[in-house]
Amino acid sequence: MSVQGRRVLLCVGGGIAAYKACELARLLVKAGAQVRVALTPAAQRFVTPLTFQALTGSPVATDIFSAEQDLAAGHIALADWAELATVAPATANLLARLRIGQSDDMAAAALLAIEPRRWLLAPAMNEKMWASPAVQENVRVLKERGARFVGPAVGEMAERSHVGPGRMSEPAEIFAACADALAPRDLENVKVLVTAGPTREMLDPVRYLSNPSSGRMGYAIAEAARDRGARVTLISGPVELPRPADVEVVDVVSAEDLARAVDERLDGVRVVVMAAAVADQRPATRASRKVKKQPGDETMTLVRTPDILAGLGARAQRPMLVGFAAESENLEENARDKLARKKLDLIVANDVADAFGKETNRVLVLGKDGARREVQGPKLSVAHAIWDMVRERLGG
Ligand code: CTP
Repeated sequence: MSVQGRRVLLCVGGGIAAYKACELARLLVKAGAQVRVALTPAAQRFVTPLTFQALTGSPVATDIFSAEQDLAAGHIALADWAELATVAPATANLLARLRIGQSDDMAAAALLAIEPRRWLLAPAMNEKMWASPAVQENVRVLKERGARFVGPAVGEMAERSHVGPGRMSEPAEIFAACADALAPRDLENVKVLVTAGPTREMLDPVRYLSNPSSGRMGYAIAEAARDRGARVTLISGPVELPRPADVEVVDVVSAEDLARAVDERLDGVRVVVMAAAVADQRPATRASRKVKKQPGDETMTLVRTPDILAGLGARAQRPMLVGFAAESENLEENARDKLARKKLDLIVANDVADAFGKETNRVLVLGKDGARREVQGPKLSVAHAIWDMVRERLGG
């Protein structure tokens, strides 16, 4: 995603990571973005307005009561101008103020005049502060309102004896997140259905067969589509992820639930992305009470679950189909085979070693038209690359 010509308001909070915001400003400017900067009073104790003015070539907003600044570009003018507001570092104080709407400086006042879904927050604070219930609750509420987050990363903090989540993401990573957040709205009103997460196949009320899918890739695909204007239904197996704002989420447990949920929601859907790690087998019987152990070894009979994708591929009238293939060997060959066998338009193949539970992903996307593209990066960037390929094939 290119940031060329896009308008980014960079709001800098008062933390030691403020020095890294200079590098972020430089990366954005270098990539052709228009960048304006607002500094909180606390930020100005770490970095100077002059630094950002020199980097961006524009005046820097520092004082909400300055008549001169207000005339040049007051907080509302900045908010109206910005397509994206990136907050780096987003301190505990700034997160709290954004949550409660306390706008006593230029950065917070401009931010409050911008809808939260256009905020990209890069938190930075001591790991104990980050873990505090107050900060965590603020983050949850801001996410629910549609704000995006990048980081914090795990690593050495400014106080070098401390290591933990709280360190601000590196400027390059925040830059990539800015680019993702500025995705084009090229799926406006396109109805899409995404599945994510594992399924659980119950043996009895307390035991199940499943897999370690975190759901992150599928959630990123749903969020990327939403950001590009799509109307998204996300059918999700059991995962521990916050619900994405402005996405219809349907919770399921088993492969059969998932099959039913997909079937019930296909009306008007133009693209189905099956990122769920669906169990291929389930126990033949499900006991209604907890099964007692028997002496010695036991045998369990497994039966096949419906292959949802293959079922969709076999239909005469069908949406565009994007499947996933997690492979531990012969990645490309196996993925090509699945692409053909399940009659898919695109398949996203990854090595199981890269696939489960991580923030980043490395995939090979293959098209039935012969397309072949390798993509690597944060799951949201990978998701956008997949939608780019879908968009190219979707027609008007
Ligand atoms: N899938 C599905 N229904 C199933 C199993 C899988 O729709 N019962 C979908 C997955 O969501 C994924 C794709 O099919 O998009 C590939 O799944 P995978 O289990 O890797 O493929 P299989 O064809 O089952 O091959 P194998 O298990 O032999 O690798």
